[in-house]
Amino acid sequence: MTKTILITGANGEIGHGLIKKLAEDSQNKIVALDINSLDPDLSKLTLQFVKADILDNRLLDELFKKYHFDTIFHLAALLSTSSERDPVKAHHVNTDGAINILAIAEKFARANTKKVKFIFPSSIAIYGLPNLEVKKRVGKIKEEQYNLPATMYGCNKLYIELLGNYYARYYEKHKKSEQYLDFRAIRFPGIISADTLPTGGTSDFGPEMLHAAAQNKPYACFVRADSKIPFMVMPDAVKVLLKLAKAPSSSVKHHVYNVGSFSISAGEIAKYAHEINKIKITYKPHQKRQAIVDSWPEDVDDSEARADWGWKPSCDKTKAFEEYLIPAIKARYG
Ligand code: SER
Repeated sequence: MTKTILITGANGEIGHGLIKKLAEDSQNKIVALDINSLDPDLSKLTLQFVKADILDNRLLDELFKKYHFDTIFHLAALLSTSSERDPVKAHHVNTDGAINILAIAEKFARANTKKVKFIFPSSIAIYGLPNLEVKKRVGKIKEEQYNLPATMYGCNKLYIELLGNYYARYYEKHKKSEQYLDFRAIRFPGIISADTLPTGGTSDFGPEMLHAAAQNKPYACFVRADSKIPFMVMPDAVKVLLKLAKAPSSSVKHHVYNVGSFSISAGEIAKYAHEINKIKITYKPHQKRQAIVDSWPEDVDDSEARADWGWKPSCDKTKAFEEYLIPAIKARYG
């Protein structure tokens, strides 16, 4: 059956992977929105590309009227380091952007008595561990633990999770017992792609180190070698978004889920980078970025996602590096 899908922040890293995967099925009609131009190789995979600001309500309204979206992937956001540089701007882009599109999607769904799926990438940034000793002790964090973000980005993501839950489960419930907005969120770990590099994130040290190695450039890592957080490769990030979007409502028992793959330190990533090229890697911790990474969990407990809708990453750590990242990044740079 044909599905019409809206992707915001389409030209970002996840957008790249997601559009390519969705376009493999000709039944998917993709409308992509981004404040920047969309890469031409992605544009040709879409029904329409709209270059616009996520804060433009009138345009969003028109798009809903024109396309009657079945599913929305709301990816538009400023990442954690960018958000710390300008917290007020981050609040506007991340939070106001989300409430605009949530409210429009809910109104549209209710007016048309149509279920609209709203898939939202949240983040491990919603967690805030007070110190390294607690981080070590907690290990695999559960969804309800330490929801005390240390960054504006984390605050924004946590609030949007709550907003989504509100619009899906409570808003207008007194008028209609049925809910039409089907909000589902996952808390992503850091993501590493062989094809693209992130901008303005704090988990960027992982992808940056590997891509630097493939270009034979030295790399000054902005966190200590022992800094450890969970990561996932881009094909698994796309896989989990699609898996969650497809899951039957009866199996999605919570509005937000952890999803894990592997946990790794900067020093271990450096060893894999050396398998690409023996570049010089130094550690020059940036005080603020180090504090952010220290406040993020070492690993996530994703047993709820595994039990409820069958999440399973295709890569463990070794497979992620030896079978995907190292060969694919080498090939990318020739
Ligand atoms: N990768 C993101 C960042 O570093 C976290 O979700 O900001």
